[in-house]
Amino acid sequence: MNAAIRAVTRSAIYNGLQVKGIYRGYRGLVTNEIVDFKNQNVSNIIQMGGTILKTARCQEFTTPEGRKIAYNVMKQHEIDALVIIGGDGSLTGARIFAQEYDVPCIGLPGTIDNDLYGTDATIGYDTALNTILEAVDKIRDTATSHDRLFFVEVMGRDAGFLALNGAIAAGAEAAIIPEFDTKVDQLEELINNGFRKSKNSSIVLVAENEEKGGAMHYAERVKNEYPQYDVRVIILGHVQRGGSPTAYDRILASRLGSAAIDAIMDDQRNVMVGIVNDEVVYVPFSKAIKKNKPIKEELVNVLKKLSI
Ligand code: F6P
Repeated sequence: MNAAIRAVTRSAIYNGLQVKGIYRGYRGLVTNEIVDFKNQNVSNIIQMGGTILKTARCQEFTTPEGRKIAYNVMKQHEIDALVIIGGDGSLTGARIFAQEYDVPCIGLPGTIDNDLYGTDATIGYDTALNTILEAVDKIRDTATSHDRLFFVEVMGRDAGFLALNGAIAAGAEAAIIPEFDTKVDQLEELINNGFRKSKNSSIVLVAENEEKGGAMHYAERVKNEYPQYDVRVIILGHVQRGGSPTAYDRILASRLGSAAIDAIMDDQRNVMVGIVNDEVVYVPFSKAIKKNKPIKEELVNVLKKLSI
């Protein structure tokens, strides 16, 4: 996020624009937490996790009254265009706001979940993936030494990108992901396919799942149905959302932030900036939010083949 804030600020100044930092997202628009941003405001932040602008959920902005206040505050500050960095909630807000008021809004995909359509990667995803990898590498030491089965729960509210690619990168045995929840009983499939046939220890990455209960749910099932396994659960939680960003994320955020200002200079509006096949693309909000980003079958097969 900070690399994106830096890129937007500096590219805007480079183009002769004035920049204001809005604190806590839409909440700062409603509560008037807005300050002038100069070059120095974004010095020394590219390596920092989190966001110097802070973030918050804003119930008020989901109402027409709240958005009206936000618009008035914006006008008071003579703000002509907005750059919004966030996931589908933030971009949905931008889309509605842009429809109601004639404000050019440019979105940057900022979520560790990687679940926005129209971009190969979202800002933060690679860093989270590397954090997962580091954690699983460490968990593996106990799994192997004690011959245990570990269920490691990772984030990704409704998306299995972190779990699936985390599993491939960490050499885990399987990933249980929401995309397949309605299709098959993934645990049963694992067991039936001879899961742990030739191994004494195993690691399964599970994407969090509010309805089912994620890793806990699967661990309980295994404990009941297969008592021979020595099962443990790790929930990585918000560890995945912190830390210094990877080189990939910093470059992605820098490119997208710079492209957001290009979009404003070109009078584009109401699009999310993404990267597809290493080229910058502009995607209408409606597509980025509404279309489901598919999980590649090829990745599922790679994991299956390599975990025998
Ligand atoms: O949307 C990003 C995300 O990291 C999800 O994967 C996760 O479910 C959620 O945020 C956690 O949000 P909170 O910090 O509000 O619990």
